[in-house]
Amino acid sequence: MIASSVILDQEVVIHHPDLVNLYGCRVGAGTRIGTFVEVQKNAIIGRNCKISSHSFICEGVTIEDGVFIGHGVMFTNDPYPRAVNSDGELFSEDDWEVVPTLVKRHAAIGSNATILPGVTIGEGAQIGAGAVVTKDVPGYAIVAGVPAKIIGRVQDASASIPFSGRI
Ligand SMILES: CC(C)(COP(=O)(O)OP(=O)(O)OC[C@H]1O[C@@H](n2cnc3c(N)ncnc32)[C@H](O)[C@@H]1OP(=O)(O)O)[C@@H](O)C(=O)NCCC(=O)NCCS
Repeated sequence: MIASSVILDQEVVIHHPDLVNLYGCRVGAGTRIGTFVEVQKNAIIGRNCKISSHSFICEGVTIEDGVFIGHGVMFTNDPYPRAVNSDGELFSEDDWEVVPTLVKRHAAIGSNATILPGVTIGEGAQIGAGAVVTKDVPGYAIVAGVPAKIIGRVQDASASIPFSGRI
């Protein structure tokens, strides 16, 4: 289902519109979205991204242009989630705050990675399959594992962007 609240730019390709769940989000021109993807309200996806099947992009996530999202990638936006308060009443939207996440341009996230709330994934960074990303990832770093650690550097990284920092 693609809700009427979704803003799709030109030439967005959604292979099976009946097998996705998109609401209140914005998707940039040329982006492709696979089956069984959910994109929540207030998520923003840039131009020419590839969002592979079974991924979940929640409220508060911003994905810049040219980003690759593998299969089954899970974003999160609440570090300490609860269903109910101490009285056993269901939490409402007013009971918690979305913690935003940013994926910078040309980054790539491997299949089955989990991205914890509040991190920034740097430009051109590569996240390994199955990684749990708990901290910011520097531009053009390759990270993998649980928790994700730097294991290398993307070889064709722009020389103008220095590689620094530790995760
Ligand atoms: C992270 C990744 C980019 C690393 O590739 P690479 O730089 O060629 O790394 P290598 O294969 O040389 O592995 C280097 C080390 O990291 C380990 N490693 C590689 N990928 C890993 C991963 N995803 N999780 C944990 N460890 C990983 C290797 O076992 C190796 O460890 P060792 O030195 O102890 O033997 C790649 O393995 C990966 O996960 N790519 C994502 C694939 C994917 O999900 N594609 C989605 C669409 S199909």
